[in-house]
Amino acid sequence: MASIPGELSRRGFTKALVVTDRVLVAAGVARRVTALLDDAGFAYDIYDDVMPNPTIEAVQAGVAAFGLSGADCLVAIGGGSPQDTCKAIGIIVANPEFSDVRSLERVADTQNPSVPIIGVPTTAGTAAEVTINYVITDSRKFVCVDPLGIPVVAVVDADMMAGMPAALKVATGMDALTHAIEGYTTKGAWELTDALHLKAIEIIADSLPGSARGDEAAGERMALGQYVAGMGFSNVGLGLVHAMAHPLGAYYDAAHGVANAILLPHVMAFNAEATGEKFREIARAMGVARTEEMTIDRAREAAVRAVAQLASSLGTSASLSDLGASKDDIPALAAAALAAVCAAGNPREATLDDVTDLYTAAF
Ligand SMILES: NC(=O)c1ccc[n+]([C@@H]2O[C@H](COP(=O)([O-])OP(=O)(O)OC[C@H]3O[C@@H](n4cnc5c(N)ncnc54)[C@H](O)[C@@H]3O)[C@@H](O)[C@H]2O)c1
Ligand SMILES: [Zn+2]
Repeated sequence: MASIPGELSRRGFTKALVVTDRVLVAAGVARRVTALLDDAGFAYDIYDDVMPNPTIEAVQAGVAAFGLSGADCLVAIGGGSPQDTCKAIGIIVANPEFSDVRSLERVADTQNPSVPIIGVPTTAGTAAEVTINYVITDSRKFVCVDPLGIPVVAVVDADMMAGMPAALKVATGMDALTHAIEGYTTKGAWELTDALHLKAIEIIADSLPGSARGDEAAGERMALGQYVAGMGFSNVGLGLVHAMAHPLGAYYDAAHGVANAILLPHVMAFNAEATGEKFREIARAMGVARTEEMTIDRAREAAVRAVAQLASSLGTSASLSDLGASKDDIPALAAAALAAVCAAGNPREATLDDVTDLYTAAF
């Protein structure tokens, strides 16, 4: 963290717009970074009007704040919501023809790199500080994929995450586990990303319970594990869990990690037949003993069970009813999930009926 003012000055920047949210300002988390900027005499303004599941309006207000501030760089302090908002701001300032935000969906034809961003995550986490994606919400959540938005520096410091309430550690940690498992089994996966994802599964499964209990060393491991997962999935994509979680964020403002944690075991069970030996490796990385002696069916069951047991031992919601979801919305949710960019990466082809069944099972 202490290196942030130097990283900014060394690049010739003179003023930052800090993008964060009000909870982090009130809790003094953003202050840990802005105090360093104050000490170094580095000028900055703060834009903190970001809510979870960030909206087009939040991005546009941030673009306006950047213009008014006279800043030449961005510092994102927060979980995925401020990180993603900051990426959209940086891309639009550099490519103003995309100021409607919506036209950035999927792969947009942006030409200019984002205003340089230093990403400082406070959750562990989305890994948005290292990925090519950002997710914005209007009537639905839409994923923008743009390597020009990757921060120039990621400052991954577990001290910035230590103050998370336990439930937030669990939700964001389950998001990171979902990235690792979906990235490991996604269609485009290959040896290099497999190595990153398996390592991430191992680290996260081993350290998330301790981190949720407040163990400092486990918190450090979670900061690493979520980042390693991000280095993997940013290169290959995700799958049906994310495709199905995003409509839940748009419809019910569901916390992203909570939605993923509910869906993950169901989608894993559905995908198992299309994953070769990979679920055996997942089971081993989750700490299941003697996986090499199991039939492939048993190993697959063991992987799904290990993930479901971890989620339930951490006390996360088990059902979509807990999110306030309504069964009447299933047809619309299923259509939105199938149309989502992440669905294309799922290892097993899913029909509308399959996705409907998966949502139904998760109630
Ligand atoms: N860009 C990507 O690759 C990517 C990947 C996964 C998810 N996402 C997106 O990221 C968003 C979710 O991000 P998130 O799960 O990190 O949560 P978040 O940023 O939405 O934050 C959730 C809440 O936690 C609070 N919070 C964050 N850090 C805290 C801390 N250290 N102490 C106390 N409170 C803290 C925030 O103020 C907020 O109220 C979703 O919109 C999701 O779609 C993006
Ligand atoms: Zn995610």
